[in-house]
Amino acid sequence: MAELICGQVLDIASDPFAGPPEEAATVHGAILVEDGRIAALGTAADLRAAHPQARVTDMGRAVILPGFVDAHMHYPQTGMIASWGKRLIDWLNTYTFPEEMKFGDPAYACAQADLTLDLALANGTTTLASFCTIHPESVDAVFAAAAARGMAMVAGKTCMDRNAPAGLRDTAQSAHDDSKRLLEAWHGRGRARYAITPRFSPTSTPEQLEALGALWAAHPDCPMQTHLSEQRDEVAWVAELFPDARDYLDTYETHGLLGAGGLYGHAIHLTARERDRLREVGGALIHCPTSNTFIGSGLFDMGARVAEGQLVGLATDTGGGSSFSMLRVMAATYEIGQLTGTPLHPAQLLWLATTGSARSLRMADEIGTLAVGSVADLVALDPASTTAIAQRSERADDLWEALFPTIMMGDERAVAGVWVAGDRVTGS
Ligand code: GUN
Ligand code: ZN
Repeated sequence: MAELICGQVLDIASDPFAGPPEEAATVHGAILVEDGRIAALGTAADLRAAHPQARVTDMGRAVILPGFVDAHMHYPQTGMIASWGKRLIDWLNTYTFPEEMKFGDPAYACAQADLTLDLALANGTTTLASFCTIHPESVDAVFAAAAARGMAMVAGKTCMDRNAPAGLRDTAQSAHDDSKRLLEAWHGRGRARYAITPRFSPTSTPEQLEALGALWAAHPDCPMQTHLSEQRDEVAWVAELFPDARDYLDTYETHGLLGAGGLYGHAIHLTARERDRLREVGGALIHCPTSNTFIGSGLFDMGARVAEGQLVGLATDTGGGSSFSMLRVMAATYEIGQLTGTPLHPAQLLWLATTGSARSLRMADEIGTLAVGSVADLVALDPASTTAIAQRSERADDLWEALFPTIMMGDERAVAGVWVAGDRVTGS
């Protein structure tokens, strides 16, 4: 049956970096959902009159947006989120790898996948791109958990054949063969998309990168996710491990792992050549600001990157990032924008967390916008979810000023409702 959801439907239909940000958006009174897809936007009165049979859900002053799209995270790291006192390589060895070791147990993998996807939905995130572990079971677990919730999910087996402990290493051949088998099992099944997933150059031999590059060449419609230039120590280590490479990106480029559909997490410390190549091929940089501050990685210059025309998405990077909330990610994006000299407008932050991430995943025709025909993955945000937010929001002169306190100070209490493919999954 059709559902008519009434509220402040905020449609940021054009790129808010291309002109005055507030002009990129239109506010409608209602959105019509039919057969799991967005059927129409308009005034509540018009849509009610045209669709008298539709069930009406009145969300009051809540702001209705596309569900958030978290373009880079690690569901196996939920159990060690907020671990104290280390920088990237020590953090991986001390906290991450021991936890990831547990995911050969399918029951544990399923429990952590269920927990993580429920946390994401409670925070208004309807699509995630997640790294798994080297264990194929960890991939089956997260795709099964997403399918059970009707969610679009991007995930892949994390491949590592060096600089990782015994028990967390595969080989060039087994990484290729396991990834291929999982890809054939899951890619395009329902809303699942398989991402070819070399963890990062330090944990893959050139032979493994080559094997995964060949797999990507055979399946170019798959996304490919990895990490790039997150910390300066890591960049220096890559230079030692790959003495012939021109730069970090070259370690991917020479092995067929640079291209459209490539998702490069962090990408903070880039050379001009790397930035040019990423832009030329249409690879996406995934900004993970809560992780970049938590692990002490550095300041991603969003203003400069979007001005160059770079495709950028936003992500929590849990458990490097210490929040499941894309609101918190937008707040950190704003704060880092202040430090790098670009105060981002709320329309730009919301667009990055929805359309920017969806474009990065090459899924913007299905998710991340309110275009008619898109899947009805939606979030409703209460702009007065706490006393502190409400008292500020009440003084606002326009919708942006009313919503900005929720972006800066909001958490899952601000999530008044979530719909996945038209079904209400939280807040009803
Ligand atoms: N680089 C390689 N692996 C990881 C990871 O799991 N988290 C983060 N933040 N960076 C990485
Ligand atoms: Zn990551």
